[in-house]
Amino acid sequence: MRWFSVVGILFLVGCAESIQPTLTDSEWTGRVPAGFPEVVYPEDNKPTKLRVELGRRLFYDNRLSGDGSLHCGSCHVLSAAFTDGRTTSTGLHGIAGKRNAPTLVNLAWMKRLMMEGGVPTLETQALAPLHDSTEMAASVMPLLVKLNEDLLLKELTRAAYGRDSIDAYVVTRALACFQRTLMSGDGRYDRYKQGRKDQLNEKEVRGMNLFFSTRTHCSECHSGVFFTDMDYHNIGLAVEYADEGKARATHLPEDIGRFKTPTLRNIQLTSPYMHDGSIASLEEVITLYNQGGHEHPNKDNRIVPLGLTEEEQADLIAFLTTLTDWNFVQNKDLLPLMR
Ligand code: HEC
Ligand code: HEC
Repeated sequence: MRWFSVVGILFLVGCAESIQPTLTDSEWTGRVPAGFPEVVYPEDNKPTKLRVELGRRLFYDNRLSGDGSLHCGSCHVLSAAFTDGRTTSTGLHGIAGKRNAPTLVNLAWMKRLMMEGGVPTLETQALAPLHDSTEMAASVMPLLVKLNEDLLLKELTRAAYGRDSIDAYVVTRALACFQRTLMSGDGRYDRYKQGRKDQLNEKEVRGMNLFFSTRTHCSECHSGVFFTDMDYHNIGLAVEYADEGKARATHLPEDIGRFKTPTLRNIQLTSPYMHDGSIASLEEVITLYNQGGHEHPNKDNRIVPLGLTEEEQADLIAFLTTLTDWNFVQNKDLLPLMR
């Protein structure tokens, strides 16, 4: 995909208001990674080139935060597979949030969003960080006024959504459209699965076999092409949970400490780990699993001491690094435009 033509036209619109070329939208032609299921897009928000382009611009637009200091990409950084390297994210005025910024990949297929599954769609998700005082702390009305002063964005909005002004409908839908294009499925593991046996070395193959074995149970929760069952589990991360996880949404005691299984795609690039960023390295994650986690009444019964040798633990980690998709994290189409 190349945006040169769009960029060129926008440049014209920006430079000379008298010339008002009409932008025409067309189908989004990005490709779903090999082996992934087709995406079922919402009827009222099918991706098009200009919807995705508008979404990308909004994703990186500081005007979306209360004091103009943050955009979505401040906490979701492409080179870190859309995480931010912090234990928990810091929002406006340096206020610390409670959770680690999750990777944003393959969201087009995810059933529910947020770590306790409190949000059903990407269209509704975008409003959460905007309002959250620990994230962007923006009020929607002044934000829309500012965005509507931008002639480029207005022209894109008209062409992409057929509306004369940028409203909450447009902002949330365009952000969702852009985020659905964040597809990652081209790691060395994937190429190996497609028949290129030279892609994994012996150590990585040993780690892969361990990962998919009943000895470790890893692939029972981190399952399928997305490496998540999209379900919620307590893995015995802590004896007491400051963040109650799924119980925040359900208020059920058995849901305390249950969090959505995170994808493991690009896991090498998304440290620190876990909902609270409490684990710094993959080595320490594997140590926790090998010990069978901490005691907690809600702990899943598959989290038990595994008895893995030092070498086996290293093999597992080697396998996890084969899930890194270098083309994805270097895809310039997912970055803001050069200014
Ligand atoms: C201050 C840092 C910060 C900013 C800014 C931010 N996010 Fe997030 N984002 C987070 C954190 C932390 C979470 C985890 C929240 C949770 O699960 O409760 C999250 C969760 C998400 C999720 C859910 C992912 C999943 O797998 O469930 C999406 C989607 C998302 N953010 C998109 C956005 C968009 C779009 C914007 C801009 C409008 C944005 N974020 C701005 C930190 C941030
Ligand atoms: C019972 C389901 C289950 C099993 C079995 C399981 N996991 Fe997990 N895994 C999870 C959940 C849920 C989390 C998030 C926990 C949290 O944040 O509190 C997680 C987190 C992780 C993380 C950190 C991800 C991130 O982005 O922060 C890694 C890495 C990981 N698991 C790897 C493994 C490996 C390797 C195995 C096998 C040894 C394994 N998991 C077994 C459910 C499971």
